[in-house]
Amino acid sequence: MKLLVTGGAGFIGSNYIRYVLSAHPDYHVLNLDKLTYAGNLENLSDMEGRSQYTFIKGDICDRTVLDGLDFDAIVHFAAESHVDRSILDAAPFLETNIAGTYNLLETARKRKCTFVHVSTDEVYGSTEDGFFTEQSPLQPNSPYAASKASSDMFVRAYVETYGLRAMITRCSNNYGQYQFPEKLIPLAIINALNNRPVPVYGDGMNVRDWIYVEDHCRAVDTVLHKGEAGAVYNIGSRNERPNIEVVRSLLRKVALHLGRNENDLMHLISYVRDRAGHDRRYAIDPSGIEQRLGWKPQMSFEEGILKTVDWYISNKQWWQRIISGEYIKYYDAQYGERLRK
Ligand code: NAD
Ligand code: TYD
Repeated sequence: MKLLVTGGAGFIGSNYIRYVLSAHPDYHVLNLDKLTYAGNLENLSDMEGRSQYTFIKGDICDRTVLDGLDFDAIVHFAAESHVDRSILDAAPFLETNIAGTYNLLETARKRKCTFVHVSTDEVYGSTEDGFFTEQSPLQPNSPYAASKASSDMFVRAYVETYGLRAMITRCSNNYGQYQFPEKLIPLAIINALNNRPVPVYGDGMNVRDWIYVEDHCRAVDTVLHKGEAGAVYNIGSRNERPNIEVVRSLLRKVALHLGRNENDLMHLISYVRDRAGHDRRYAIDPSGIEQRLGWKPQMSFEEGILKTVDWYISNKQWWQRIISGEYIKYYDAQYGERLRK
């Protein structure tokens, strides 16, 4: 199988490519990524030079790039992914998340290829109680969520109108290795290691449902191979936590590593003004994918968080190069010379 993975230089996409090439060593993966601020080829430096892996720098909004590629299925991760950025400027979210997805759908329709659309539980909005099921109404509250919900609707329309073999996955908040340090968990770990304030929005009681990134990758791969055309699959790990509890647990683990008193690190918690339109609670019911496709999460939150903290501690250079802006030069060093010839 020749897979086109979009956004493979980002957090989840890079973990997915690593997973696919170990689970299916005979597959060929084309990684199409524009390398926005969130794309980092260092996330896949261990894949460089493997004959089953090809990187293509390109924009999913550019049809000519897509026309020149050969593949059997698309797994679509590429997106603008950060809620706070969407509040500051929604334009790139409309462009990549909506127009880019439309472009890929057109490509998939013409080639009659399978399409896995990686979406998010944030399309359901916020719920005070109960759990989002695949039947829950879409009530996006942030510009990011609205752009993802819009792309979900296009995927649905292509299934209904053109009979495309497309599936939609809606996953809860991911954490793990290679997550860009604008998101809560890596930001809190890195700030704690640097003895800097850890910003907690509002009262810290907003609830997110956390899943370890490798569990998500395995779920996406299960959907690619066993998913029913037109189906939506919620992916979650039944790990709801208020943000403040997540932050405290991270600080405890960092304190242990630094050999410091826990209470000293707790002083780094800094309550800041709340995010506009901040969704209070996300909670996923994953029983659909568990029962229909036999997928189950494997990582407990405690173990996953420990692994993640350990990873950021052991990979200081990775995040220091992001903070300093150095990581952007990696592409030129690896590919620039070859591309100029
Ligand atoms: P990320 O921001 O870490 O990575 C996004 C990647 O997409 C980057 O490599 C970037 O360069 C690339 N990209 C952006 N615009 C592009 C374009 N126009 N053309 C080609 N490439 C482009 O994001 P992530 O956290 O890895 O999320 C991946 C997907 O999973 C997204 O679709 C997101 O909505 C979804 N998702 C994320 C989470 C989460 O917790 N992070 C949860 C559920 C769903
Ligand atoms: P984030 O990682 O941005 O993911 P999302 O907004 O997609 O859920 O944020 C997770 C939660 O943490 C969310 O409720 C906002 C909150 N948050 C903070 O309290 N402080 C921070 O510095 C960040 C980035 C997020």
